[in-house]
Amino acid sequence: MATLELPGLIDIHVHLRDPGATHKEDFATGTAAALAGGVVAVVDMPNNSPPTVDEQTLRHKLGLASQKARCDFAFYLGATANNATQAPANGHVAGLKIYLDETYGPLRVQSLSTLMAHFKYWPRNRPIAAHAEGLSTAVVIGLAQLYDRRVHICHVSRKSEIELVKQAKERGASITCEVTPHHLLLTEKDAKELGGYGQMKPSLGTLEDGEALWANLAIIDAVASDHAPHTKEEKEGRTPPPGVPGLETTLPLLLNAVAHGRLSLERLVQLTHDGPARILGVRAPEAASVEVDPEATYALRGAQLLTKCGWTPFEGMMVQGRVRRVYLRGAKVYEDGQVVARPGSGRPLELA
Ligand code: NCD
Ligand code: ZN
Ligand code: ZN
Ligand code: ZN
Repeated sequence: MATLELPGLIDIHVHLRDPGATHKEDFATGTAAALAGGVVAVVDMPNNSPPTVDEQTLRHKLGLASQKARCDFAFYLGATANNATQAPANGHVAGLKIYLDETYGPLRVQSLSTLMAHFKYWPRNRPIAAHAEGLSTAVVIGLAQLYDRRVHICHVSRKSEIELVKQAKERGASITCEVTPHHLLLTEKDAKELGGYGQMKPSLGTLEDGEALWANLAIIDAVASDHAPHTKEEKEGRTPPPGVPGLETTLPLLLNAVAHGRLSLERLVQLTHDGPARILGVRAPEAASVEVDPEATYALRGAQLLTKCGWTPFEGMMVQGRVRRVYLRGAKVYEDGQVVARPGSGRPLELA
């Protein structure tokens, strides 16, 4: 059995829930899940409680991650109605995150003047990342053009959205985009069967939406997990919060797609390593690699995952391709189900 070596993955869209919701995940468990999934660096979203929106909340999060993270990390700063003129408070802020649509957490920006202020003042060498669904996609592409700056569109999920991104790119717009494994592989039909476990933002689309993402893979810059854990209890409650875990399933699902001829290995590396580093202008961690058994075939099981939430929307799905060992800075950090890296061994990503 020949093992395959890949560069360690960089996941530019995760919610590790620390601080504020550590019953769902924390930096120690979330980064253990990352390593188990071949991910050596994560970029954490700002919808914590309290949200990561200023120098104080950033410093607090940096303290927590420095103590607990087992892989490398960086953060997004959340845009609010009144922090546009405030420069990022430290060197670990990879980008500004703007939520244009309703999702989990309080960070939604709905006023045009607030949006304009952020596009005007955010440092030009750092990207703006947007949760923008449907019409909002056109809004952020338009603003990026008008303010002549780079924008990154998170979790593109619809045929119309990816077509718009494609047209904008063809016209030379400075935009990048990511897609998630769940929008590539699951549909609204799965959402019905999954109940609360199938609820996330953006919601799952039609088969046609998913096919449009595959068909436009050439213009997609990255695959990100949007790892958004919530507890089983929360997901089985009357108003399940949106979000699904994904750090440990992204690579197996993509390797499975390679095994089935939907993706080349080269493209997989571009989408999970080169693209993510380029989008955010971060230096990939050194001597970071993943050893994969490309033949191993098995069923994904939530109970076997290291994420604190202990479930996956891909429960029972057969995949071909298993993570065996992971290295970071030359040291073995994961092997066959066991995380070797200690909390606190992760470092802030270097911004290029
Ligand atoms: C995310 C979360 O739970 O933090 N939920 C989700 O459904 N994707 C928020 C987000 O990324 O929009
Ligand atoms: Zn590399
Ligand atoms: Zn989002
Ligand atoms: Zn998210």
